[in-house]
Amino acid sequence: MLSKRRGILHLLNGVRSLSTNITNKNKAEELMNSKQVPQDKEATLYIHWPYCQKRCHYCNFNKYISQNVDHKKMKKCLVRETKTLLSMSGVERVKSIFFGGGTPSLAEPATISAIVDCVSDAVAMAPDAEVSMEANPTSAEWFRLSEFKTAGINRLSLGVQSFKDSFLKLLGRNHSSLDALRALEAAKTLFPGKVSLDLIFGIPNQTLTDWKEDLEGVLKVCDNHISLYQLTLERGTNLFKWHQAGDVSLPNADETADMYQIAVDRMAEAGFRRYEVSNFARDDSVSIHNLSYWTGGQYIGVGPGAHGRFALPGGNNRESFLWPKGSKGTDTRAQFLDV
Ligand SMILES: C[S@@+](CC[C@H](N)C(=O)[O-])C[C@H]1O[C@@H](n2cnc3c(N)ncnc32)[C@H](O)[C@@H]1O
Ligand code: SF4
Repeated sequence: MLSKRRGILHLLNGVRSLSTNITNKNKAEELMNSKQVPQDKEATLYIHWPYCQKRCHYCNFNKYISQNVDHKKMKKCLVRETKTLLSMSGVERVKSIFFGGGTPSLAEPATISAIVDCVSDAVAMAPDAEVSMEANPTSAEWFRLSEFKTAGINRLSLGVQSFKDSFLKLLGRNHSSLDALRALEAAKTLFPGKVSLDLIFGIPNQTLTDWKEDLEGVLKVCDNHISLYQLTLERGTNLFKWHQAGDVSLPNADETADMYQIAVDRMAEAGFRRYEVSNFARDDSVSIHNLSYWTGGQYIGVGPGAHGRFALPGGNNRESFLWPKGSKGTDTRAQFLDV
């Protein structure tokens, strides 16, 4: 059955049926009312999918490499946690959903739609609310992405990292630049104007010329949003170990600062506005979800590597939220609450 939210999308697309019309009418009324929702009843939602196909050499995000993911169980748990946190937070309106990872493009589309549906069933959500997903080039074929689109995704963030295969290898990525270009083309046909690319700079042995070439490469093929991240050396990663052992060296601080400045200038020249440290958008294609973090908006985090920031209904009852009555108080991954 169509969710309420996707019912509205279908209506907008010209699909007519009595049941969706009734659902849409209810939802439209709900949305009208939601205009009155005060800011402390509004939040964005981050959903963490914790699995990857391979561990990249630089990444210490919370992730697991598994060939035997229990998708049924994951769907059940993520839906349950979403419902629980929405209800406990007292949030009445969700502005955007972001599926991050790990590699959420490895999740089953049914998991994504179950979560999107459960949000739109529980709280008000605009029919065109931003629903983003991070994707890796090796799990972003056209058909797969089209299934995610049907599941409710309307914005995609693709991890390209570099257009040079030697750097992709050094970073431990499991794709080539050609794989990334193919995935990008598929993404642009399905989510026109709503595709973002991630690139990394400050990679071992990377020169200013290498970086300039990557920037020109990305500007040739990109859509309207680009994220440029400085490589951070993270404890526990292979890159950290190799660096400690003196086997790799990173560009020095001045070189890395130059890379950033070159990027900022080139992006501006190409019509991209820097709306936070690492993110650039043109034609107003900022990520609503990302902007909300940077402007102090409330967010709820669901999944094993997520955290949140929101005020509780009724004031500072942090303790009762962390340790609900009768519980043994063992969930230390509960949300941190600014009240
Ligand atoms: C955690 S990943 C999740 C999305 C997806 N798995 C991917 O690799 O694109 C999100 C972004 O964080 C970047 N990232 C992870 N560790 C990083 C680090 N140590 N320094 C800079 N960027 C990093 C990734 O390269 C990616 O672009
Ligand atoms: S960078 Fe992305 S694909 Fe690589 S290990 Fe981290 S989350 Fe997984």
